[in-house]
Amino acid sequence: MEEKELLYSQERIAERVKTLADLISRDLEGQEVVLIGVLKGAFIFLADLVRHLKIPHTVDFVRLASYGSGSVSSGEITFSKDVETDVEGKAVLIVEDIIDTGESIAFLQERLQERRPASIRVCALIDKRERRERAVAADYVGFELEEGFLVGYGLDFNEKFRCLPEIYVIREGNSDH
Ligand code: IMP
Ligand code: MG
Repeated sequence: MEEKELLYSQERIAERVKTLADLISRDLEGQEVVLIGVLKGAFIFLADLVRHLKIPHTVDFVRLASYGSGSVSSGEITFSKDVETDVEGKAVLIVEDIIDTGESIAFLQERLQERRPASIRVCALIDKRERRERAVAADYVGFELEEGFLVGYGLDFNEKFRCLPEIYVIREGNSDH
């Protein structure tokens, strides 16, 4: 069994999400904004974020599949669900749960750039630094963390724990992710 320890409470998450939404509303005001949520992990974060946004926007989703052996990402990423919105000329905001190696965000930025948006920004609930392989940086970050495997608030471990309202760190015997 997994041992989990509370890391971010509901209140802390709610406060950060509201702050991020305020910053985004200020920065992207007057632009044609498309939020692109990265499934599955970002679904709860995105749902809370949009309810605090004060600017008009549309929402779309992508889902990524990565191929590689074992737990180490090979960097071979594809869309298993692509964007359905035409993003040309629009202000794109990628909404991601966690940036870990950075491969997913780097892939998304590159592929979306080909579609000539006005801009691409990244909003990540958690920026995890330890395993970063690509020099990607989020424009809006909820929490910065050095290491640890997190669950709750949309984040899963083998599809478990997404529904937890708080974020926990899994402690023991689960390094294989
Ligand atoms: P990367 O930045 O391409 O390495 O991948 C980031 C993705 O890996 C995130 O969107 C999550 O789906 C997943 N991920 C990375 N770290 C964690 C974690 O601590 N808990 C749950 N999912 C994670
Ligand atoms: Mg994800």
